[in-house]
Amino acid sequence: MDKILVLDFGGQYNQLIARRVREQHIYAEIRAYNKISADEIKKEGFKGVIFTGGPNSVYDEKSPHYDKAVLDLGIPVLGICYGDQLIAFMAGGTVKSADNSSEYGKTTVYVDENPLFKGVPHESVCFMSHTDFISDAPEGFEIIAHTDKCPVAAMCDKKRKIYGVQFHPEVTHTVFGKEMLRNFLFDICKCNADWKMESFIESSVEKYKEELKDKKILLALSGGVDSSVAAVLLHKAVGKNLTCVFVDHGLLRKDEGDFVEKTFKEKFGMNLIRVNAEERFLTKLRGVTEPEKKRKIIGEEFIRVFEDEAKTLGRIDILAQGTIYPDVVESGKGDSAVIKSHHNVGGLPDIMSFERIIEPLRDLFKDEVREVGEKLGIPHELVWRQPFPGPGLAVRIIGEITKEKADLLREADAIFREEIAKAGIESEVSQYFAVLTDLRSVGVMGDARTYGYTVALRAVTTDDFMTAEWSRLPYEVLEKSSSRITNEVAGVSRVVYDITSKPPATVEWE
Ligand code: XMP
Repeated sequence: MDKILVLDFGGQYNQLIARRVREQHIYAEIRAYNKISADEIKKEGFKGVIFTGGPNSVYDEKSPHYDKAVLDLGIPVLGICYGDQLIAFMAGGTVKSADNSSEYGKTTVYVDENPLFKGVPHESVCFMSHTDFISDAPEGFEIIAHTDKCPVAAMCDKKRKIYGVQFHPEVTHTVFGKEMLRNFLFDICKCNADWKMESFIESSVEKYKEELKDKKILLALSGGVDSSVAAVLLHKAVGKNLTCVFVDHGLLRKDEGDFVEKTFKEKFGMNLIRVNAEERFLTKLRGVTEPEKKRKIIGEEFIRVFEDEAKTLGRIDILAQGTIYPDVVESGKGDSAVIKSHHNVGGLPDIMSFERIIEPLRDLFKDEVREVGEKLGIPHELVWRQPFPGPGLAVRIIGEITKEKADLLREADAIFREEIAKAGIESEVSQYFAVLTDLRSVGVMGDARTYGYTVALRAVTTDDFMTAEWSRLPYEVLEKSSSRITNEVAGVSRVVYDITSKPPATVEWE
């Protein structure tokens, strides 16, 4: 299998570069610049090396540098942004810093004829993000692109197959970025496209089989996509040595707990412990109305329950987590072992001791995780499940939480989800759910006055959940949901639809 090394100099798009390579069905491995030598690059048989960007300036004392020998290995190199400047610096060119030369954002670039730019028009848009720039290309290098401000937007030493681009071909704003990367991977590195998601599964399973032999592994399963995929993947490697603990805090959606239990126990034959801790959680939440306090209580209680359960299991060597790449970015921690707050409901217990933590999905993006999930045979409805907050219905019940309110909300929510499914619009809406407001209003049913709760329906469309549009659901779906909820769920006398986008509102009500 051909593989590409993404040599990490601390840039923000490193994973994206690896992902772009994987999209071409070529295996990419990311390594920190100080964790692999030029010799090892050769020995490990990489077909090409991509130097990533990075926040530094090559002349800074503390900036990351690399062994010049990498340029003479006979292995093609592509430097991006800082990586490009580093190549210039290593090969004897000049890098300058000037505020009036910085470029940020979409920039017109003019490229010359070159193997890297096959199929790329002379003039196109690229994405720039730099202050420093190469003022003189090193000897033996030709300049192959420029912008209005940047004299050396790309350069190459065709003989040694060393290329550098000041812009970011991995970012979609660089309109022909994909072509450039393809040219580098296929024409310059001569890679074969022989890597598939199945290969990721196979190689992970092989690796963990070897690494985790005779180890006892514990994983907190939430029933969400990430922890489920991590669990099934690890189970393939270590079987019964993996124990999954599923804490049911009693604030899950209708039938969700049973579905999770059934899937993992029956379909996959996994060692799954479901802890029914509804009472424990509801007792702690009694009388609490403040949203952040609810979150905190649930987070802490979750840890206590998990801890209590783990104690009964005897020796545990390793903790496994379903951390995925966006979690690593969001928590702002680069290359150290980040403990993912369990579905964002808090940290994991300090007093539990493990040899180490493993995170099998740490390098993957959400859609890649879903692809792995599908390939592992995880049910479609779980793989494509809409996001569900760790604190569950607690942040969808405004005011105090009681079992009665949770049951009522579960029913209303199930009806709304059913109607969306019936209308066949599940995949058009990113997240949809019911909220139990704390507001009661007067209604009339039959000839009698009622005084019941107001349920709010919420549906949003978004790519990243940082911003979201309220979904323009068909009136028929809203009408059917409203009429069914008021008829079928005792205690509800009014249904409203939330037509606020994010910002100014958030997706969840609390
Ligand atoms: P907001 O309400 O912040 O939601 O606009 C954005 C996305 O995050 C989810 N969310 C949470 N997820 N724990 C979680 O695991 C939480 O405390 C939490 N709060 C919000 C929300 O469902 C939406 O997908």
